[in-house]
Amino acid sequence: MSEFCPIKGFDHLEFYVGNAKQAAHFYSKGFHFTNTAYRGLETGDRKRASYVMEQGNIRLVLSTGLSPDYLISQSAIAHGDAIAVIALEVPDAVKAYRETTKRGARGAIPPTEERDEGGVFRYAAIHGYGEVLIKFVERDNYQGVFAPGFQSRERANTQGVGLTHIDHVVGNVELGAMDKWVQFFAQTMGFELLVHFDDRTIATEYSALMSKVMQDSTGKIKFPINEPAQGKGQSQIQEYLDYNYGPGVQHVALATDNIIQTVSQLRDSGIEFLDVPLTYYENLEERLGKIDEPVEKLAELGILVDRDRDGYLLQIFTQPVEDRPTLFFEVIQRCGSQGFGEGNFKALFEAIEREQIQRGNL
Ligand code: FE2
Repeated sequence: MSEFCPIKGFDHLEFYVGNAKQAAHFYSKGFHFTNTAYRGLETGDRKRASYVMEQGNIRLVLSTGLSPDYLISQSAIAHGDAIAVIALEVPDAVKAYRETTKRGARGAIPPTEERDEGGVFRYAAIHGYGEVLIKFVERDNYQGVFAPGFQSRERANTQGVGLTHIDHVVGNVELGAMDKWVQFFAQTMGFELLVHFDDRTIATEYSALMSKVMQDSTGKIKFPINEPAQGKGQSQIQEYLDYNYGPGVQHVALATDNIIQTVSQLRDSGIEFLDVPLTYYENLEERLGKIDEPVEKLAELGILVDRDRDGYLLQIFTQPVEDRPTLFFEVIQRCGSQGFGEGNFKALFEAIEREQIQRGNL
């Protein structure tokens, strides 16, 4: 772990949405998350309602404002339903805030301590790209439900679809801003550059982007950062920036140990994925070597394969999960490979471009 800002792992991702009750239904019925905690009018919160959704080690918090002037409502108007907070669990939230702000991070929430019968819950936050906050959560001395103010809502209504943890969280930033944010994560949090993709790696006939992946010293936290690059048409990153009204989280990769089962269940539940042309699967094992999963099954579900020297990975991308062409999810199964599916970038981006054309944005 970095000496000055050790991180234990992702704690949760908080979405600011227009209607948290309906969003909770979507993540429950579509992605098979379980609503484990809640706060809102019934628990004495007059400003907002929040639903904690859990599956494996993944925690999503869906929050909505109860009045037009409240911060969450304003955010949902500006960005649509979007990820507003990336929360990291740390051993010491006060230290994380002090060390990162000392190194140039802009403070957003100074160290705060809340107590209830569950113990002591501490947190603080700094500003990340766009209006996204990076929150430090310290819960070693807290045994309550999620956080003070929340009520338990455990319901054994779903077994999940095998999603285990957050693999990576990708940010889109403006043209020319990628290196600034690479520097930010390096300087303020001690992250290292894991890999760099330039516009020659990630270019199709129309669209291009550049990407650098920042990683903490444990390898648990991976933050790829994309910026648009010049192409014949509009970069998909620029389309995101236009509709998100600024930088923000482009996609979250959720890991599974059995992608065929997970994606089959997600499709049965109505989750929509990007289409992959059947030609992608021709000669797949000649191109990528033997894989354990049946290729016909991957083709049927639209799952992509990539290989590097350490092994292979299987991945698939959902359609945007709101009307704006902004946030989407990736489902990933790693079989040795620690890459990001760079061999699929071209096929993937051509699939995104077909959708961009349908939206009139290319
Ligand atoms: Fe990804």
